[in-house]
Amino acid sequence: MRRRETLTAGAVTATMAAAAPAAAAPGGGRGPKKPPGNGHSTPPGLAKKDTLAFAAGDTLKIGCAVAGGGHHTEADYPDPFTSDQPYREVLAREFTSLSAENQMKWDYLRPAAATYDFTDADAIMDFAEAHGQVVRGHTLMWHNQNPTWLEEGDFAPAQLRDLLQEHIATVVGRYAGRMQQWDVVNEILDDDAALRTTGNIWLRELGPGIIADCFRWAHEADPDALLFFNDYNVDGLNPKSDAYYTLIQDLLAEGVPVHGFSTQGHLSTRYGFPSDLAENLQRFADLGLQTAITELDVRMDLPEDGEPTPEMLEKQAEYYRRVTEAALSVKGCSSLTLWGVLDKYSWVPGTFPGEGAATVLWDDFSRKPAYYAVQDALAEASGRAGHPALAR
Ligand code: G3I
Repeated sequence: MRRRETLTAGAVTATMAAAAPAAAAPGGGRGPKKPPGNGHSTPPGLAKKDTLAFAAGDTLKIGCAVAGGGHHTEADYPDPFTSDQPYREVLAREFTSLSAENQMKWDYLRPAAATYDFTDADAIMDFAEAHGQVVRGHTLMWHNQNPTWLEEGDFAPAQLRDLLQEHIATVVGRYAGRMQQWDVVNEILDDDAALRTTGNIWLRELGPGIIADCFRWAHEADPDALLFFNDYNVDGLNPKSDAYYTLIQDLLAEGVPVHGFSTQGHLSTRYGFPSDLAENLQRFADLGLQTAITELDVRMDLPEDGEPTPEMLEKQAEYYRRVTEAALSVKGCSSLTLWGVLDKYSWVPGTFPGEGAATVLWDDFSRKPAYYAVQDALAEASGRAGHPALAR
């Protein structure tokens, strides 16, 4: 029951039709040359609007993580962002926001204590600007993916503090005025909703006061960027999201420049849908914050042959639809990002053996029911439902 409507086909057809006016001579015996491919007579300009970006209109930024670094470095394919041209075209066409999957993390940007490597981070910024997209920066302070020289270095607390301050000033400053949102502080709470005072080098060595400092330093470096707390398993109302709610209230009362709270949205059909997602986001919105869903994917337990059944795909589509509808229902939730768009590049199978198929496209770029679920929910909200470009 897979829908095999290849994403690129429509856009290529439209581009060709638009680029071939001479062949469409009126009354001419030659007549327009039929473009190769599906043979649809899609008017130029319509097929290229058959995207998530068009469906979203002005409702929210619909984003995607740019694949690279992390688990990709051990995979048997070249770097996706710089090597896979059809993938780049999908990123450019389908989305209005991009996030760096790994390319702005410490282990990527900081090969050595005195060195920065901005090559790939800059490339993402430039690509986004060339395509009229905004960028979410991910991430400045985290317990994970820190370089070995940092984690195993023998730094005194004052040195660590200087390192972090300098990192934030340099990285945020580099993209000042160009970054829509930063995940300033990532995953500082553990699964018991306690601060990671052991595993997070910054919290361990510098104490919880460093959280406010990170926000202050980021705000100094870029007063225009919206500064977020970001974490997983905070989709619904639960002890972990409660802890953020309390922490953020305290920081706001102290005048700390916190602008947003985001939930990652790594969901699994195994655990059921967080039906209080909108309610949870709404309470942060009521504090005057922006909210966002920053890393949405919906994994499932795969059958032995690896092929999800139609029922599994429908269930997944329902999750994607409900997340999209929840985001759209909360004022100030202006960004919804998918953590990847192709299963072959997804982090899921490497981390959860036996699970997968978590993204909205098949590896040949054809669309899963989940893609249509997101597109339909966006189009309903933007008023573009029923637009001929989105007709099936
Ligand atoms: O660095 C170790 C290396 O020492 C070890 O030999 C090797 C063995 O597999 O693993 C290396 O770690 C890899 C790491 O990236 C560092 O590059 C992990 O295997 C690999 O799974 C990891 O992947 C990234 C992961 O973050 C790290 O936490 C993924 O590409 C990336 O998609 C994922 O993204 C995170 C977000 O940033 C935050 N929220 C959760 C999300 C999914 O985990």
